[in-house]
Amino acid sequence: MKSGIAIVTGASSGIGEATANRLTKAGYKVYGTSRRGTQAGQRTFEMLPLDVTSEPSVEAALKEVLNLHGRIDLLVNNAGFGIAPAAAEESSLDQARAIFDTNFFGIVRMTRAVLPHMRQQGSGRIINIGSVLGFLPMPYMALYSATKHAVAGYSESLDHELRTMGIRVSVIEPAYIKTSFDANLMTPDAPLDEYREIRAAVDKRVKEVIESADGPEIVAETVLQAALAARPKRRYAAGGVAGRLRLLRRFAPASLVDAGIRKDLRLAT
Ligand SMILES: NC(=O)c1ccc[n+]([C@@H]2O[C@H](COP(=O)([O-])OP(=O)(O)OC[C@H]3O[C@@H](n4cnc5c(N)ncnc54)[C@H](OP(=O)(O)O)[C@@H]3O)[C@@H](O)[C@H]2O)c1
Repeated sequence: MKSGIAIVTGASSGIGEATANRLTKAGYKVYGTSRRGTQAGQRTFEMLPLDVTSEPSVEAALKEVLNLHGRIDLLVNNAGFGIAPAAAEESSLDQARAIFDTNFFGIVRMTRAVLPHMRQQGSGRIINIGSVLGFLPMPYMALYSATKHAVAGYSESLDHELRTMGIRVSVIEPAYIKTSFDANLMTPDAPLDEYREIRAAVDKRVKEVIESADGPEIVAETVLQAALAARPKRRYAAGGVAGRLRLLRRFAPASLVDAGIRKDLRLAT
């Protein structure tokens, strides 16, 4: 059991909700967040309104937790979304900015807001939800993959800077997980006829893979493991598929990985 104050962003569904429930069960006092506000009711944790794309919203949510408890021991940056499979050039620059604003700058906003308090405490943990697409780029998911590469780079750099102050940062990298992620995908806003067929084919393939994916509890368990570890790792693969992909990325020749991605997505070689 661990008692401490935890914030989990994007806790209204999926990985965030499972993580907030798991941390509560482990003894943390958990504040989950959602843009839709406080629908606490049946949940095992408190819910705060928060939009990670808004600095005033981030400040207001943290102020509420700090007023009540005077400290934050654990921040889980989970809020994020994807764009439905499409070619990179089928998203406008505005859409590219929008996905970075939540998936990456959302983490930067939250981190900048909690760090002064964690530094003052001389302790704290920040756990960022990345993705296997943060180390294994995937065609037709270029922008999402780019946001998760940014999350991984930011997290590892930050951990180096903060560990001597008692603060550790880890990134959790799941493969496909069965959540509302699929239902919440943004539609590419600059579709091109040239990609119509391949877009449909990749979409079909991704849906097939998601059918056999793990549930969000597996990620929640990994978050808890990272939160409790005396010497946390900088990166955790969450689940068997993610672990195998990480090994492949690390040890297999690049040409083999490249061919494997194309074969898996049934792309022409
Ligand atoms: N599912 C997968 O296959 C998978 C795999 C690897 C990594 N991930 C990552 O896991 C994280 C959670 O995804 P999920 O699968 O659990 O999807 P999900 O069920 O759609 O949950 C996404 C959560 O993010 C919140 N959110 C989205 N935009 C937000 C914003 N601007 N401010 C605050 N909250 C926001 C949503 O809350 P509200 O709408 O209530 O605000 C929701 O609670 C994401 O970072 C995703 O990239 C998912």
